[in-house]
Amino acid sequence: MALSPGTHPPLRVAVLGCGVVGTEVVRRLVTEGDELAARAGARLELVGVAVRSLDAERDPVVDRSLLTTDAESLVEKADVVVELMGGIEPARTLVLRAVEHGASVVTANKALLAQDGPALYDAADAAGVDLYFEAAVAGAIPIVRPVRESLAGDTVLRVVGIVNGTTNYVLDSMSTAGLGLEQAVKEAQALGYAEADPTADVEGYDAAAKAAILASLAFHTRVALGDVDRVGITALTADDVTWAERTGHVLKLLAVAERARTAEGRDGVLVRVQPTLVPSDHPLAGVRQAFNAVFVEAEAAGELMFYGRGAGGAPTASAVLGDLVSVVRHRVLGGKGPVESSHADLPVLDGGEARSRYQVRLEVDDRPGVLARVASELAAQDVSIESVRQTLQTSGDDASATLVITTHTAPDRALRATVEAVSVLDVVRRVVSVLPVL
Ligand code: HSE
Repeated sequence: MALSPGTHPPLRVAVLGCGVVGTEVVRRLVTEGDELAARAGARLELVGVAVRSLDAERDPVVDRSLLTTDAESLVEKADVVVELMGGIEPARTLVLRAVEHGASVVTANKALLAQDGPALYDAADAAGVDLYFEAAVAGAIPIVRPVRESLAGDTVLRVVGIVNGTTNYVLDSMSTAGLGLEQAVKEAQALGYAEADPTADVEGYDAAAKAAILASLAFHTRVALGDVDRVGITALTADDVTWAERTGHVLKLLAVAERARTAEGRDGVLVRVQPTLVPSDHPLAGVRQAFNAVFVEAEAAGELMFYGRGAGGAPTASAVLGDLVSVVRHRVLGGKGPVESSHADLPVLDGGEARSRYQVRLEVDDRPGVLARVASELAAQDVSIESVRQTLQTSGDDASATLVITTHTAPDRALRATVEAVSVLDVVRRVVSVLPVL
């Protein structure tokens, strides 16, 4: 059956939230109305835009007569609800209400999905409506649909991504402009990349929510925000960035979701967000500024990489509108898109089960036997050394050295035990940093 907007009654669209993304969604609904109708098979009639304040200044593309503060009534008269408010409440209640009233939902709300995804998927499934969320992960980059649909016949082994543009921008400016962390965050705020309160980005919560969503889709397993082993970028220094470069790496905040097997042979998934040393010749090392990229490894497909803008009004609106056209097509033609796939129900393993190469940087006394004592602690935990680099510093009579030890792949648990043992050696002045290497 061909899609023809002339034969299907218009579908009523409600937009919740009119910030940067909401405004761009409204703009394209207004300016691209005919084209979107032709693609979707029905006209998309914007019936209201829920906002917190009716008086706030707005782009003139937003028809003020459509504004309302009564989001609850708005969702009840819509066929499709586009939720762009963010946060947990009232977004959660409104999405559930929309679904109960038979509306399909398009959302960009990663925090809500990572916290309450299963309840929302179940409600949408029970109501026979769609819940689409391409914009929740990596903005404009099509990654939800490829993992959820295109790779549905393959076995995903690992997903590695730079999914937070703010932290990528911060780390990139620390590297290229030699800024300290605080200064780089301030610059990101001045340019509108970072929020006034940058906690969700710099502490890795935003990336962890996206990692949970991607892991759930990739491994057909429910993974929640709390399952993600998370380390942000706040402890990183300009020195960490410099040493990364000296050793042929670029420091990135990576989200990693992978299939893994415990030492006892138990299969599961591991989901982590952590600052990671990416070898400079790896495709993710070239992801600069506020761009995002996701690298997927699948059994049959091999390696795939997705790259683009992970935030911003127009790029995020692109993903929202793609979902909007999809859910409207389903309404026109009958049927619905994929439901939650969580049948594999793999256990989410503790971060200690992760295996990685690590780079450990130590400040030590420069005297005979130091290297041997440090090395023997690694050997005691069965952690094998791949390379050691030593740089001497002298200040008056005081001779110290920076030791940069790169290990072969080792379990995180063994590495942590090693670092603890090394840190109390009298010849070790300071464990400066411990970073995984991709
Ligand atoms: N704050 C996010 C980022 C964009 O910096 O990538 C929205 O998820």
